Amino acid sequence: MLSSDEAFEQQLPQDLQIRASVHFTPIDVARRAASLLATDAGMSILDIGAGAGKFCLAAAAQVPTATFVGVEWRGRLVRLAKRLADRLELSNVEFIHADALELDWSKYDAFYLFNPFGEQLMDNELVLDRTIALEPEKFVVHVAAVRHRLSIARVGTRVATYHGYGAPAPLGYDLVRRERAGSDAIELWVKTRLIQAGEATESFA
Ligand SMILES: C[S@@+](CC[C@H](N)C(=O)[O-])C[C@H]1O[C@@H](n2cnc3c(N)ncnc32)[C@H](O)[C@@H]1O
Repeated sequence: MLSSDEAFEQQLPQDLQIRASVHFTPIDVARRAASLLATDAGMSILDIGAGAGKFCLAAAAQVPTATFVGVEWRGRLVRLAKRLADRLELSNVEFIHADALELDWSKYDAFYLFNPFGEQLMDNELVLDRTIALEPEKFVVHVAAVRHRLSIARVGTRVATYHGYGAPAPLGYDLVRRERAGSDAIELWVKTRLIQAGEATESFA
């Protein structure tokens, strides 16, 4: 199932197969991002908006010493991701059904984002499904909330993005690496300094 993107897509229902290349991380990108994020044994990495679990599953297989947790607000995708994890017999992966912005992020060492809120700006047949109300204003609010949360995370926090998350690197982070990958690039940001009072509320515009 993780030998290629095509092999993974064959495990998906048909409506997801035709959208997978738009919404789900290519296997090679997932493996590379996993290696950049999980540098030490015992690390916990949160995938913000895990979809059908493709990043977490490929990452967990790539780095067995780390735990990958995916939070996803579409229940059917969470159930699918859990079934795939069982089939792969992976014990270092977990999926949570929730709004990512209602979860406590403080226990995670690193974060992965594949443009999770971009769907709020989509208005065509490639939208994953219509079970979530899509509003461009939500994109702005969610991106700002993520940027704030990451900016107050502890020093050493690692963040990898593929197709970004809608804003520049959060305050306090250095861009440590940028690699061409898939149809875009992986960026790795590492938090290197505490931000000053008031800085965290800076707008990203
Ligand atoms: C571009 S897909 C990435 C999927 C997965 N991370 C991957 O790389 O294969 C973004 C996913 O984020 C989910 N999502 C968007 N906003 C969310 C939120 N506020 N809370 C939880 N999941 C969210 C969407 O339902 C979608 O499945």
